[in-house]
Amino acid sequence: MQSFLDIHTTSKQDLRSIIDGARRMKDARNGAPKGTPDTEQPLANRMVALIFEKPSTRTRVSFDLGVRQMGGQTMVLSGKEMQLGHGETIADTARVMSRYVDLIMIRTFEEATLQEMAEYATVPVINGLTNRTHPCQIMSDVMTFEEHRGPIAGKKVVWSGDGNNVCASMIHAAGQFGFDFTFTGPPPLDPEAEWLDFARAQGVNAQIVRDPAKAVEGADLVVTDTWVSMHDPQSAKERRHNQLRGYQVNRALMDRARPDALFMHCLPAHRDDEVTSEVMDGPNSVIWDEAENRLHAQKAVMRWCLGV
Ligand code: CP
Ligand code: NVA
Repeated sequence: MQSFLDIHTTSKQDLRSIIDGARRMKDARNGAPKGTPDTEQPLANRMVALIFEKPSTRTRVSFDLGVRQMGGQTMVLSGKEMQLGHGETIADTARVMSRYVDLIMIRTFEEATLQEMAEYATVPVINGLTNRTHPCQIMSDVMTFEEHRGPIAGKKVVWSGDGNNVCASMIHAAGQFGFDFTFTGPPPLDPEAEWLDFARAQGVNAQIVRDPAKAVEGADLVVTDTWVSMHDPQSAKERRHNQLRGYQVNRALMDRARPDALFMHCLPAHRDDEVTSEVMDGPNSVIWDEAENRLHAQKAVMRWCLGV
């Protein structure tokens, strides 16, 4: 039994076995209708709580569907409607939930909430996004890249825009899966230096290049995300748009990357802000595979957590 809290705190070997498991399970379904149970039912008789303190489409639906395909049951809970949102401590919530369910997935604000949940729960806890990281998303991204282009090790991934929570998990993945990472964006929105240092300590090249056109040279994958995340104050919107406008992923930028460079976005996207519709809907974009693979990657994460 183990929690899946972040990519940099999970071993390289375990991360690889999760990706391999996800591919195996995806292949085994062989395009069956979504409600068809998997042949194997590793979550039979298991109950999974999905707690959301922020909105979600993909995380909510893919976790719920994944549990059902594997024979388990879910309860989807909104933090606001729980006592959690009315002053009951995280630790007490974790202790109580552990008496009812076998696994907890939580999407929350502060990383400390996730850590406290994991510390006091006696069942595994999965990080479904915090202000600081989004590891399930990047497991899906790695899986998606490898489906299209083979091993990601040694490739060049460029992140253009805000050095946010999703970017952080991508930098962790650079270190753990062995690919080079370049961030391009304005200095106030740089990713945390600690994450770049983590990747470098694993022996990969992790750098910041201010000029987006230079940054994407030789890129095998170009990634961006919303310019204003759920935890950012809406009042920052105009300033961020002004800071980030030059980092939009558009056709001109993609033309500077390798001709076969893929484009990814965790979604939801703001069309024609951080990325043009032309790129999102263009031949290099794999965003719908990326969204689908959340399902398969998270199923493998849940199996790893429960050891089933
Ligand atoms: N990418 C992602 O996590 O999407 P949701 O916010 O819809 O879950
Ligand atoms: N960076 C975004 C990702 C949403 C899936 C946010 O935190 O709002």
